[in-house]
Amino acid sequence: MFIFIILLSLCQTAIAVSPLVDLSYTKIQGTALSSGVTQWLGVRYAAPPVGTLRFAAPIDPPATTGGIVVDATRFQPICLPNSPTDFTMKPNKRFTVAEDCLFVNVFAPSGATPESKLGVMYFVQGGGFGSNSNANFNGSDLALFGNIVVVQVNYRVGVFGFAQSKEIKAGGSLNNGLKDVVQGLKWTKQHISSFGGNPEQMVASGDSAGASALALLLAAFADNDPGLFKGVIMESPSVATIRSLEQGQEQYACLTNATKCNKTADTLACLRSLNATALQTTTCQFNPHLDDDLVKKPSLDSFAAGAVLKIPTIAGTCTDEGTKNVPKDTNTTAQALQFVNDQAFGALSNSSLSLIAQTYLNAPQPVFPNSGRMWRQLANAHGDFRAHCITARLQDGLAAAGTTTYNYRYAVLDEQQEALGFGAYHTVELNGVFGAANTDGAPPASYRSNGTNAAIVPITMAYWASFVKTLDPNADRAPGTPEWKPWTVAGQERLRFQTGNIGMEKMNDTQNARCTMLNPMLAAVEVPTSKPGTLELNSASGVGNASSTGPGIPQAQSGGDMPSLATAANPIPLCLQRMTGVALFVSALLSL
Ligand SMILES: *[C@@H]1O[C@H](CO)[C@@H](O)[C@H](O)[C@H]1NC(C)=O
Ligand SMILES: *[C@@H]1O[C@H](CO)[C@@H](O)[C@H](O)[C@H]1NC(C)=O
Ligand SMILES: *[C@@H]1O[C@H](CO)[C@@H](O)[C@H](O)[C@H]1NC(C)=O
Ligand SMILES: *[C@@H]1O[C@H](CO)[C@@H](O)[C@H](O)[C@H]1NC(C)=O
Ligand SMILES: *[C@@H]1O[C@H](CO)[C@@H](O)[C@H](O)[C@H]1NC(C)=O
Ligand SMILES: *[C@@H]1O[C@H](CO)[C@@H](O)[C@H](O)[C@H]1NC(C)=O
Ligand SMILES: *[C@@H]1O[C@H](CO)[C@@H](O)[C@H](O)[C@H]1NC(C)=O
Ligand SMILES: *[C@@H]1O[C@H](CO)[C@@H](O)[C@H](O)[C@H]1NC(C)=O
Ligand SMILES: *[C@@H]1O[C@H](CO)[C@@H](O)[C@H](O)[C@H]1NC(C)=O
Repeated sequence: MFIFIILLSLCQTAIAVSPLVDLSYTKIQGTALSSGVTQWLGVRYAAPPVGTLRFAAPIDPPATTGGIVVDATRFQPICLPNSPTDFTMKPNKRFTVAEDCLFVNVFAPSGATPESKLGVMYFVQGGGFGSNSNANFNGSDLALFGNIVVVQVNYRVGVFGFAQSKEIKAGGSLNNGLKDVVQGLKWTKQHISSFGGNPEQMVASGDSAGASALALLLAAFADNDPGLFKGVIMESPSVATIRSLEQGQEQYACLTNATKCNKTADTLACLRSLNATALQTTTCQFNPHLDDDLVKKPSLDSFAAGAVLKIPTIAGTCTDEGTKNVPKDTNTTAQALQFVNDQAFGALSNSSLSLIAQTYLNAPQPVFPNSGRMWRQLANAHGDFRAHCITARLQDGLAAAGTTTYNYRYAVLDEQQEALGFGAYHTVELNGVFGAANTDGAPPASYRSNGTNAAIVPITMAYWASFVKTLDPNADRAPGTPEWKPWTVAGQERLRFQTGNIGMEKMNDTQNARCTMLNPMLAAVEVPTSKPGTLELNSASGVGNASSTGPGIPQAQSGGDMPSLATAANPIPLCLQRMTGVALFVSALLSL
């Protein structure tokens, strides 16, 4: 009898997680894949944010009653984008869009048990805070390879996630998209053991805007750690435009005007009464913003002050961060400088624009197929001020605060992408993290299992999974790969990912000097300026010699010539745009 009980209990602990999971408030039915991973798709982690919950903070999902088993074998919709012309609005085999979109997808090794306590990677997709742009990736290969649980989250974006005004502050809640990310983390912490995951070993990983969101949360949790993650990975981060309430109010006016709700006494009630698609615009801009609560300061300020949650992190960028995020038909210095200054809300002085021109635009670059003469030069500038230099500054702050932080440069050479001029573009590393068959759009062909860069995928996965399990990318790295040393302010060492040539390198001196020059501009990218045309770059950096015979500043480039915030029909933070749907995105830019 005694032995029987022991056997029974052994037997119970050995039972793998069933595709039918009972979460007490609901039962969900997933799918066991033949590969040895079980997936639960479209799992609701918050109540539908519709009706009176539009513009409100997320709340727990309602319980399902009557013993109903919820189908988790199919994806549910992703969140409606801000713009009706966003690529996610187009028919796509992988997703549909809707306002009711607060779902996670979970991937776990099928052999896991509730006692397995596997490391958990919680993936926050990008999309410039205006779109769910890396939606419904297939986490099954990463989960299997790393023996970890992978969770992917949809969160509200654009007007639905980030509308900001005194009306919304009073009758709803601010920064709801960011609160969705937090709600998803809370849901994961509460329930992930039912899928084999360890609620005490969660690592949040985000790309592009998802990475910027995590930077904001690292700052938000500086003095009050809710224990939702033990480590963070920021892939190709940038900074979003962080508006004050007054600046947000102008965008709210843009919205009430566009919807004609400006004519009603209760604009918020009016906005809540409309069909969700009626709230979409191409002109009104919504991003994470100052709310005196979750976001008290711009992230660059918090990181510079060391006011961050002190946990291990990874962050990094791809060599050619700018190529997919600047207008491909840029031909002239004037067009390029206009674009650069728009990114800084017109902050740059004429001499600063001269420095940019001499540093980047005068440098000869090859001309690529179907692209403007000045495209690659502009892309190089954009890559620095929207990605490389920002990442370096965030990590300087983390390192100075005494945390362990690892930097990478994703420099994988894909023959086709190099020939097209895109190079190792913004967020291309996701193909290494998830495997090229599991992302969206058209990944570089060479990353496929039969391609020349196939080997970089398991190498990338191993560093990532190792960090998820141990907070150290080295503990379980692939055999024969180099030790990844932490980033330091003095050393500035980073791991170069390149097939056959992976290794530690120092941040290149030229790039470093350019970042020194650009440093004053970075804050102006994050916070719209009130003084256009006055910002001076650091001309003593040794680059961009302003006294040489440069092109001068064409008339149209006057720093004071910028669109005002309220009327800025300017691109939303372009660097935070998607990697997928890039063709559509670029053609949208061409038509601006
Ligand atoms: C992930 O890939 C596996 C293997 O191709 C497939 O069976 C599974 O349905 C995919 N999952 C998703 C969510 O696409
Ligand atoms: C209001 O909308 C009209 C067109 O519908 C536009 O011409 C005008 O500039 C808008 N005003 C503001 C303040 O956004
Ligand atoms: C409201 O917006 C409309 C455009 O939709 C504009 O023509 C009108 O002047 C605005 N009215 C007020 C009171 O702001
Ligand atoms: C909302 O608008 C969309 C697009 O115009 C339309 O297809 C849908 O039927 C509308 N929904 C309602 C409830 O009116
Ligand atoms: C750049 O030049 C090309 C080729 O002449 C032209 O097709 C394109 O429209 C130009 N771009 C702009 C923004 O003028
Ligand atoms: C590699 O595999 C893809 C499908 O995964 C296929 O389309 C392509 O033709 C293959 N390439 C080679 C060189 O075999
Ligand atoms: C150093 O960085 C500059 C600017 O980013 C780049 O043009 C150059 O090729 C880099 N040099 C090396 C050796 O990587
Ligand atoms: C600019 O270049 C000139 C000539 O090469 C040199 O004399 C001058 O010191 C440089 N100025 C700066 C700020 O680097
Ligand atoms: C900047 O340059 C433009 C064009 O040369 C000129 O019109 C403008 O006055 C200059 N601005 C300042 C502040 O010098």
